[in-house]
Amino acid sequence: MRVAVIHEAPVPPQTARELLAELLKRGVSVLYLRISRLNSEVSSDGRLSVIYGGEHVVEIDAGIVRGVGSVTTMETLLKRINTLKQFELSGVLLVNSTQGFLNARDKYRALQLLSRAGISVPETRLTEDVYVLTETVRSWGKAVVKPLIGSMGYGSLLVTDPDIAFIVGKTWLSYSQPILVQKYRRSTDRDIRVFVVGDEVLGAIYRYKSEGTWKTNVAQGARVERAPVDEELSELSLKAVRTLDLDYAGVDVGETEEGYIIYEVNAMPNWQGFHAGTGRSPTPKIVEYVMNKLRR
Ligand SMILES: Nc1ncnc2c1ncn2[C@@H]1O[C@H](COP(=O)(O)OP(=O)(O)O)[C@@H](O)[C@H]1O
Ligand SMILES: [Mg+2]
Repeated sequence: MRVAVIHEAPVPPQTARELLAELLKRGVSVLYLRISRLNSEVSSDGRLSVIYGGEHVVEIDAGIVRGVGSVTTMETLLKRINTLKQFELSGVLLVNSTQGFLNARDKYRALQLLSRAGISVPETRLTEDVYVLTETVRSWGKAVVKPLIGSMGYGSLLVTDPDIAFIVGKTWLSYSQPILVQKYRRSTDRDIRVFVVGDEVLGAIYRYKSEGTWKTNVAQGARVERAPVDEELSELSLKAVRTLDLDYAGVDVGETEEGYIIYEVNAMPNWQGFHAGTGRSPTPKIVEYVMNKLRR
């Protein structure tokens, strides 16, 4: 059995190293693949292959996708997604699947699907019109402007002034970036990160925002602490993960006066914060999940 860990970093990051070590421990042969080095080929006999670095045809049973790089053009994103899809079309199991990844990575698509499934998400508008943004900020009072594709809190802004919103909107549009604006919805100084693998909730952490920011990302200095998982939180997180067709994920949940709300579902979540807060690494569970799916 051969399983690849896929990422873009030249050296495998911490979570990728943990997965590789766990796979080796179970006697699985492993590969670390940089996604930019993968080339796809459609042959005249209808064979689909993925080639690493121009020479070696990649032969794997499964791949754990941990990163696709910080992609700056749509063409590069399409190339990388098509490459992952090529694996799937030739019978390789990908965790998460390309479909799941696409559902989660695009924040608005995720909100569409979650909302349609009856899950509470913040009121959100997606627009290319700066006046829609300014009027939204004027009427909501407190709004969050986010990149459509983003992570670790980078690039998100809390805006209360319609004139600031105007300048932000103009700037984003000048870079051909659509604007995703959300009503600010959180009544605490923390959020909850729930970790799900398959049908199991592994646990949750509170992420307390650090001084001087409103964001609760670990990358933005949040302090973590183990959080209890009640029935409602558990059901909600499992439903969100299932709705987006994900195998494993980190679910970002907010607490509001009206109850839980989901900000996003991460298809390639880091788990150092979760590990520190709960004393438990999801690594063995993810590997076990992949192995079970392969045996089926
Ligand atoms: N609409 C919102 N209202 C209040 N807080 C928010 C809102 N959206 C995001 N946040 C806070 O910012 C954090 C980062 O936002 P998120 O949507 O998860 O993007 P990222 O991919 O950058 O983590 C969330 O965990 C949450 O604490
Ligand atoms: Mg997040």
